[in-house]
Amino acid sequence: MEEYTLYATMGAGFESVVAKELQSLGYETRSENGRVFFKGSQADIVRCNLWLRTADRVKILLKEFPAKDFETLYNETYAFDWAQLLPVDAEFPVKGRAVRSKLHSEPDVQAIVKKAIVDKMSAQYRRRGMLPENGSRFPLDIHIYKDVARLSLDTTGESLFKRGYRIEHGGAPLKENFAASLIKLTPFNGTHPFIDPMCGSGTLPIEAAMIAKNIAPGTLRQFAFDGFDWFDQKLHPEMVEEAKSLVKPCETAIQASDIDQSILEVAKLNAHNAGVLQDIRFKQVAVKDFTTELENGVIVSNPPYGKRLKDKEGAEKLYAQMGEVLRPLDSFSQYYLTADPDFEKFFGKKATKKRKLYNGNLRVDFYQFWANRKH
Ligand SMILES: C[S@@+](CC[C@H](N)C(=O)[O-])C[C@H]1O[C@@H](n2cnc3c(N)ncnc32)[C@H](O)[C@@H]1O
Repeated sequence: MEEYTLYATMGAGFESVVAKELQSLGYETRSENGRVFFKGSQADIVRCNLWLRTADRVKILLKEFPAKDFETLYNETYAFDWAQLLPVDAEFPVKGRAVRSKLHSEPDVQAIVKKAIVDKMSAQYRRRGMLPENGSRFPLDIHIYKDVARLSLDTTGESLFKRGYRIEHGGAPLKENFAASLIKLTPFNGTHPFIDPMCGSGTLPIEAAMIAKNIAPGTLRQFAFDGFDWFDQKLHPEMVEEAKSLVKPCETAIQASDIDQSILEVAKLNAHNAGVLQDIRFKQVAVKDFTTELENGVIVSNPPYGKRLKDKEGAEKLYAQMGEVLRPLDSFSQYYLTADPDFEKFFGKKATKKRKLYNGNLRVDFYQFWANRKH
């Protein structure tokens, strides 16, 4: 059984969350900025794509070498046995990144690597002219950091945040893996109540319910490895069946509310698609009227940020209402994600801890207010 050097990629600041997830799946990990390395077989590639909630992609490291000039980059890329990886009709887009390196032009790095692979494949398959590139897709990338190049194959395809349960609605939902990562930064493990009082399209409560029910987040979708002709195609359906057999009933209360009925309808549809509609209590209610009979749980929410001045006033009024209504629920650990640096002032309490994060390109803070548990 072939063992590969694998790595998961993730958003900035989530390396430790992904490393922990990998460790709980049984892997030994080594973390770098934006990457967590581990070793595994084809079965592990399937398992990680199916089960990782917080990562973006799982890649195979094909080759690593120092590259300070284009000639070396071309020669080292050419030296790899591409015909063993890519069938003659493979579609193989190459994505290039170069950071703090002599070779800094990303378009050039990308073009050189593509040319070296095309030349090698043409020689190995004895082809003249263009390769057809009309077969399965093998997404490759070249990443040069401090003059060390890494060639990788992406086994995931579309990022893992695309679970396949979300319907398009034009709002600004959290990415599913980002929402799952936020939940992993809280003590929630599916046994205590979970509340999102500004749930929007439902990403946070849906991800919480999937954690509580042990639903593998990748169950609904396909991956790039499904198209690799050398990949054992029995593994994916077998492991989906296994994952389905591991789903358990939700043992805790999950509540999701929002002021906007139309977005709640979207949230319900998403929850239905994810297989958790019956596990979440959805309710239309404004924060100022919010009440709960639950205790000893977590509240995780991402209220509006108010990017424009007019919206900012509205957002800050809402933070004050959150302070009046939610702050007294002190048996709950509370977690709020917002880009507003003055959130604590309006909420009326200093956070136990703040974590700096990026929601896409937007710098945000995850404000954490730890609970006084009632027993
Ligand atoms: C940034 S969005 C949440 C997005 C959500 N996390 C998702 O992934 O789709 C903020 C939500 O707060 C809701 N909201 C705004 N004011 C509210 C209020 N006073 N009470 C309850 N919800 C409110 C909005 O309707 C919106 O859905």
